[in-house]
Amino acid sequence: MSTINAAATTILFFSAKPYDQSFFNEHNADFGYKLVLYETHLGAHSVHMVRDAAVVCVFVNDKVSADVVEQLAANGVKIIALRCAGFNNIDIAACKTHGIKVCRVPAYSPEAVAEHALALIMTLNRKTHKAYNRVREQNFSLNGLLGFNVHGKTIGVIGTGNIGHAFCKMMLGLCCKVIAFDLIANKDLVALGVDYQPLLTVLAQAEILSLHCPLNEQTHHLINETTIAAMKKGVMLINTSRGGLIDTKAAIKALKTKQIGYLGIDVYEQEDKLFFKDLSNDIIIDDTIQRLMSFPNVLVTAHQAFFTEEAMAQITLTTFQNIQHLLLGQPLANKAASIA
Ligand code: NAI
Repeated sequence: MSTINAAATTILFFSAKPYDQSFFNEHNADFGYKLVLYETHLGAHSVHMVRDAAVVCVFVNDKVSADVVEQLAANGVKIIALRCAGFNNIDIAACKTHGIKVCRVPAYSPEAVAEHALALIMTLNRKTHKAYNRVREQNFSLNGLLGFNVHGKTIGVIGTGNIGHAFCKMMLGLCCKVIAFDLIANKDLVALGVDYQPLLTVLAQAEILSLHCPLNEQTHHLINETTIAAMKKGVMLINTSRGGLIDTKAAIKALKTKQIGYLGIDVYEQEDKLFFKDLSNDIIIDDTIQRLMSFPNVLVTAHQAFFTEEAMAQITLTTFQNIQHLLLGQPLANKAASIA
């Protein structure tokens, strides 16, 4: 790729929110890019907005299909910069075909996501969200607020990369027994006492199960009717990874039979139509999320696990640096940031 003057480059941001604007504008003082921020998703409906820009910057719910990639290439786009870790929403093969470079932020603050998984566990268990509302209504009763000690429980972790690793350490710190499944065992975690087991063993033994693997063809609906049936009755299932890991209909069925005792999700299969938007005055057409939210033992947050000061600052900086290195034809600081 030819060398381009990084400072004079226009970056078109899609799915940009006020907080993106504030972080990216602040850090741009050191880079001098021209930033154009659009609130709409990038997809077939909006790709026509891409004109005269070498770089587009996208987030988790932008849909960069082969058709979109083709149109981006035709309009001179050379780089797609993901300001997130997951890249299941990009047609990588199409990017390679059209010579578009793709970069991401592989690790910005794994602790931010792991801490949110822990927050979901603690809230579901000790029901602090319900207690908060109750006390404000001068209802000081404890009926229905009974929790359990997390101490000593068996925690199953699926995927022990950056986030799973941080999560395992947190759970070991709470004196839990941590069992894990990954394609590759992490030696540091083994030394700390994490016990790697086959997937079915992890499912069968875990009292709390937390998902930290990427969404891909192998992991799509990893949690389905069959795997749910293999779990301990009343299991707490936590997903801060990607919605497509769970077959939501199967999860609802299992919540009804109490096979799943608690469900905490920060991600949802159809989240692109809902999350990151204020729909409080709208009619929600998605009956599945409405059914999910009707269960007292389900906690949904809207893809906020990454959302800390530290993580946003790191995402911003790494995204700008990735773009700069690609524009200058240099290797990326973190090899894992390069997707295509
Ligand atoms: P990572 O790439 O460091 O770790 C993923 C781990 O999953 C690796 O150890 C890999 O070997 C393992 N894995 C891959 N396929 C597997 C399979 N079939 N079964 C079991 N393990 C498998 O990724 P990182 O940074 O830990 O992130 C994990 C996921 O978390 C991302 O892919 C992303 O989807 C999600 N995420 C969610 C955020 C949120 O705000 N809710 C923020 C950041 C990431």
